[in-house]
Amino acid sequence: MRKNIVAGNWKMNTTLAEGVGLAKDVNEALKGIDAKCDVVICVPFTHLASVAGVIDSSKLGLGAENCADHVKGAYTGEVSAPMVASTGAGYVILGHSERRQYYGETSEILKTKVNLALAENLTPIFCIGEVLEERENGTFLDVVTKQIEEALFDLSAEDFGKLILAYEPVWAIGTGKTATAEQAEEMHAHIRSVIAGKYGNEVAENCSILYGGSCKPSNAKEIFSKPDVDGGLIGGAALDCASFMGIVTAF
Ligand code: PGA
Repeated sequence: MRKNIVAGNWKMNTTLAEGVGLAKDVNEALKGIDAKCDVVICVPFTHLASVAGVIDSSKLGLGAENCADHVKGAYTGEVSAPMVASTGAGYVILGHSERRQYYGETSEILKTKVNLALAENLTPIFCIGEVLEERENGTFLDVVTKQIEEALFDLSAEDFGKLILAYEPVWAIGTGKTATAEQAEEMHAHIRSVIAGKYGNEVAENCSILYGGSCKPSNAKEIFSKPDVDGGLIGGAALDCASFMGIVTAF
C-alpha cells in the first residue's frame, strides 16, 4: 500500500547553522510523537552532509532539492545525483515549478535527472502542476497529463513504482492561495487514472501523490483527508518547526 508522506522543501533558505538547528528541532519533535506518516526534509546542497549527521534517519528522511543532469565532469556549479547520495540523502525533489520556470528545466532534462537519481537509489519527489492561466482556461488536467507522460512514461513499471509525485498548482505556491481540497482531489484522482492507464491499477494505487502549495497546519487535515491525497510537499511552513509538525500531525 502507498505511504503517507510529509516532505519539507526548504528552498533557498537558512544558513548552515540555522538549517542544522531546524533539522535538530524537527528530529527532536519527532521523537515525542508516533507519526502516522513518513517525514522528509529537503534542504540546500550545502546543508546535506551536516544535517545527515544530526538526524535519526529511521525517523526523518533527508533529500536534496535538485540534482544535475550529468553524472560528473566539467559542469561548474552543478551537484550530481552520486554526490547527493554520498551525503546520506535518500530523496531528491525534481521538476519543481521554480526549476522549470526560472532555470528552464524541460521534460527532456527531467527525464535524464530522474534516471540518474534512480541509478543512485535516490527517491525522486517529482513535481507537476499547472500555472494560473492553465487553471483558468480549463487545460489543467491535460497539462499535468503531458508533464507526466513526457518525463516519466519511458520508465519501467518497476522504476515508476519508486517515485513519489507531488501535485503543486503553481498559482498556489508561496501565494497563500491553497487549492481547495476538492480541486486537489480532482487532480490527484486524475493523476492516478493517468498512471493506471499506462502501468495498471496496482502501480497507480501504490503511488504516493503529495499536494503542495500553501499547505499549513490549518488546512492540512482537510486536504489530507481526501482519498487520493497522500500527504504534502511543504515550502514556507516547513521553515518553522512548530508549523511543520502541525502538518505532520494532521495525519
Ligand atoms: P509553499 O511551497 O508551501 O511555500 O507554497 C510549496 C513548494 O513549492 O513546494
